[in-house]
Amino acid sequence: MTAIDVVIMAAGMGTRMKSRRPKVLHRLAGRPLVQHVVDTAAALAARSCVVITGHGAEQVEAALAANASAGAPALQFVRQQPQLGTGHAVQQAVPVLPDDGIVVVLSGDVPLTQADTLQALIALCAGQRLALLTIDFADPTGYGRIVRAGDRVQAIVEHKDASEAQRAIREVYSGIMAVPARRLKAWLARLDNRNAQGEYYLTDIVKFAVADGVPVLAHQIADALQVAGVNSPLQLAELERAHQLRQARRLMEQGVRLADPARFDLRGELACGQDVEIDVNCVFEGRVSLGEGVSIGANCVIANASIAAGAVIHPFTHIDGEQLGVSVGEGALVGPFARLRPGARLGAEVHIGNFVEVKNATLARGAKANHLAYLGDATVGERVNYGAGSITANYDGANKHRTVIEADVHVGSNCVLVAPVTLGAGGTVGAGSTITKDTPAGALSVARGKQLSIANWQRPTKKAKA
Ligand code: UD1
Ligand code: CA
Repeated sequence: MTAIDVVIMAAGMGTRMKSRRPKVLHRLAGRPLVQHVVDTAAALAARSCVVITGHGAEQVEAALAANASAGAPALQFVRQQPQLGTGHAVQQAVPVLPDDGIVVVLSGDVPLTQADTLQALIALCAGQRLALLTIDFADPTGYGRIVRAGDRVQAIVEHKDASEAQRAIREVYSGIMAVPARRLKAWLARLDNRNAQGEYYLTDIVKFAVADGVPVLAHQIADALQVAGVNSPLQLAELERAHQLRQARRLMEQGVRLADPARFDLRGELACGQDVEIDVNCVFEGRVSLGEGVSIGANCVIANASIAAGAVIHPFTHIDGEQLGVSVGEGALVGPFARLRPGARLGAEVHIGNFVEVKNATLARGAKANHLAYLGDATVGERVNYGAGSITANYDGANKHRTVIEADVHVGSNCVLVAPVTLGAGGTVGAGSTITKDTPAGALSVARGKQLSIANWQRPTKKAKA
């Protein structure tokens, strides 16, 4: 097996994005465009991955370095300054490319190429030939045309350099090729910029291959999404929608019932059990798993969470586990309008109602907080009922402290539990209490001003005007 070295061209300006952000850092399905390409290189089990940067080089390099993961190909960055064309871009990578590999050339702004397509291209190259990924376009304007003699490709002619007859060719070069490294290096050394754009064209290596008797073959695909580049906000949005529709279809083929595949967004990985239902306008980010029979209401945002079988997430709920994760137990009911933050661990049959926020807190089976409440840094026992408007005062301005509410405690409405504090099992806390000391098991604890009534109270009256 010949080793694969991927080269990703990502130095271009992206003028039509009209953005301060480098084009390849704009996001598709939650990840920078160029990250998709790097991830594809990883899927190819490439030996190395060289990213050619230019415009916004520092930002692009920092973003990719921050996302580098174990097991991925070694990432290297090469600067192209100034940008004198695609051939000039790949020339910059020559010093870091080993001679013995197959080089796969990709673009940082073409995010949706599938690894199996590239595997087929690599097989066609076979360490011997120049293999080009091509596609037929009804409107090939702007693209390099594939000039053929039967199976063999004779040349790629850029649109601006093409004759009328050549412009009639509908087969175009996708911008993706697989080529033996040793050959590539020799051909790159022969490039010039005598063409309509005064650029060093990578595509000119085709004519050198032909001259050297190296077969140039095309692997033609029909799926335009895999070679689609992003040049403008409109193209980015169109590609996002097409990609989301594909993800939605894949889930629906597994049996997931999406109310509307056109109103579904997955920006990460979603694993679903059987009979999962997802209503409209939900966004899933990071890693999310939904157990059997889970139902997600409309307009939920769910990130980095694991939701067990039979749980129901009502509309407008926001769940974000960030690094710590969130878990929702079997048969739990959450929302509408609930917020689960990192470290929220809900046991089975837990109920979290509207305008309830849970952070870094464990709720055991059957605990309920149904209205307008905050549970932060808390351990809540089984069957606890946590009243409307109650909060844990977990932060003293410097440190966070824990609140422990043992099993079967009933916390009345509008209580403040000043942590660190423990409420003993089976106890009751009267409404409106500010609890600063531990409460005994089984007791009623009340900590509020005593009610006072003054009979026949005369309200103030308005003075008559002079
Ligand atoms: C290139 C091909 C063309 C093909 C088309 C497919 C050449 C000469 N032409 O067109 O045959 O049909 O792609 O989209 O290769 N880049 C650099 N440095 C540069 C120039 C470009 O890094 O100096 C990067 C761009 O950022 C982009 C990629 O290379 O990611 C392709 O450049 P682009 O200008 O979009 O391609 P074209 O030259 O128009
Ligand atoms: Ca160009």
